[in-house]
Amino acid sequence: MLEFDDSHSHPPPSPLSGLKKTPSQAATPTPAAPKPVSSAPAPAPKAAAPAVEQRPPAEVLTPTARPVPQRSSELASSLNFMTIGRKRADADSIRIIGGRNYDVRQPVPVKYPSVREHFLSARNNFWTPHEISMGDDKVQWNTGALTEEEIWLFKCNISYLTASDNLVPDNLNNAILEHITANEMRQYLRWQIAEESNHIESYFFILESFGLDEKGQGQIFSLYQDVPELVNKLNWNLTFTNNVVNCEYPQGSMEANRALLEDLISYYVFEYLFFPLGFSQVFALARQGKLRNTAQQYQYIWRDENLHAINERWLILQVIKENPGLWDATMQERARAIVNEATHLESEFGKASMPNGGISGLSVKSYTEYAQLMGDNLLKSLNLKPLFNIKEHPMSWLAEYEMKQEVNFFEGRVRDYRVGTALDWE
Ligand SMILES: [Fe+2]
Ligand SMILES: [Fe+2]
Repeated sequence: MLEFDDSHSHPPPSPLSGLKKTPSQAATPTPAAPKPVSSAPAPAPKAAAPAVEQRPPAEVLTPTARPVPQRSSELASSLNFMTIGRKRADADSIRIIGGRNYDVRQPVPVKYPSVREHFLSARNNFWTPHEISMGDDKVQWNTGALTEEEIWLFKCNISYLTASDNLVPDNLNNAILEHITANEMRQYLRWQIAEESNHIESYFFILESFGLDEKGQGQIFSLYQDVPELVNKLNWNLTFTNNVVNCEYPQGSMEANRALLEDLISYYVFEYLFFPLGFSQVFALARQGKLRNTAQQYQYIWRDENLHAINERWLILQVIKENPGLWDATMQERARAIVNEATHLESEFGKASMPNGGISGLSVKSYTEYAQLMGDNLLKSLNLKPLFNIKEHPMSWLAEYEMKQEVNFFEGRVRDYRVGTALDWE
């Protein structure tokens, strides 16, 4: 049984419904554009010039909307046309997804003040990669300071992270945003998209700073297309995005919402598990005195990703709260399975990037256990049973790379902004 009304099966109303029609408009679905009005006197015709033909306004100025299949016109959507006199949303009717009968572009009322705080906190912490000096890393990269194994690790690492920071905003653009029907969350996610681009700029700036030309940079960046373990990990996330975009059920239906929830969980995995694991590899190098400038870039990115994870978790829990039927035993087991798959993929990535079992200061075994620890923390943050029960943090030294928060995030809802182990949820 689908949990939505079937109004999508009716023809969508005209985008101009509600407008008082003139007789000429009533005769055709597309109103004629008004004739141009000019107060200037008509120029005197020149004898030699051909007569200027009075042409009708170009039709391209009044495009005809095509019917949109499989989307209820009542669903709040950024694709909905404006309508005259549409009632403003009240806080009770606003929903995080599946809101109906209001215009999603209205910024008031703010139904979820904590999400607005997420936005303001993120904006207060904006940074630019170019503020970080890369001189020491350039010297190390060009003077053989890194072993061949460390270079391979770094290349896999930055290639994967760069591809990932493309996938996350693509997912927001292509799959998530159209489902979000609270304006403040839409603003936050747009800001997140900008931050992910800033992360791409950071990776780009790092390789550029090493003195690599476009060919050299390209050989590194393209590894995500060459190494099977990187391809698998990225395609795993892309599958969830495509399941939302290509869902055969109407937006707002239980089936579409399930695809959306799976996608949200898989991208929570990105922010909370895949990214920190990737950063830990470069922090391990930095502990050996290598690529410390790069590590500083990663520290700033990590801080952003943790804020993204906080918001992602909030979003998932809110979707569940407002749609409790979604979070049944089957879906909860599916969430555990998703995290299990993610942990396995991360472990495989660890082996591929460290084919000899590790580098100095970081073993594949520790890396896998860290992935499992984060997988369990993620599950617990969604009130689900853990899978692996890792007792001790295998890389507790990561706390050295923690960046203390610069503002009081979320007024105590996240008590301590820690990145080495788990965020301290309330
Ligand atoms: Fe990012
Ligand atoms: Fe992110």
